[in-house]
Amino acid sequence: MIVCVCNRLNEQRIGAAIMSGAQCSDEVYTRCGVRKNCGRCQETIDGMLEENRRALALAAE
Ligand code: FES
Repeated sequence: MIVCVCNRLNEQRIGAAIMSGAQCSDEVYTRCGVRKNCGRCQETIDGMLEENRRALALAAE
């Protein structure tokens, strides 16, 4: 599914950026080689970042 329409970023690309260490949406855009445009995708990306943080915290328990 495309998450960022402006930059045609799908969940897989954003997930890969998060797995490679992106800590915030700006870092996700940078690691994908794009810039934030309209910002409509930011809430979804922030949600994916939070989900990853929770999963890592659970794995560390
Ligand atoms: S949808 Fe991602 S910047 Fe517009």
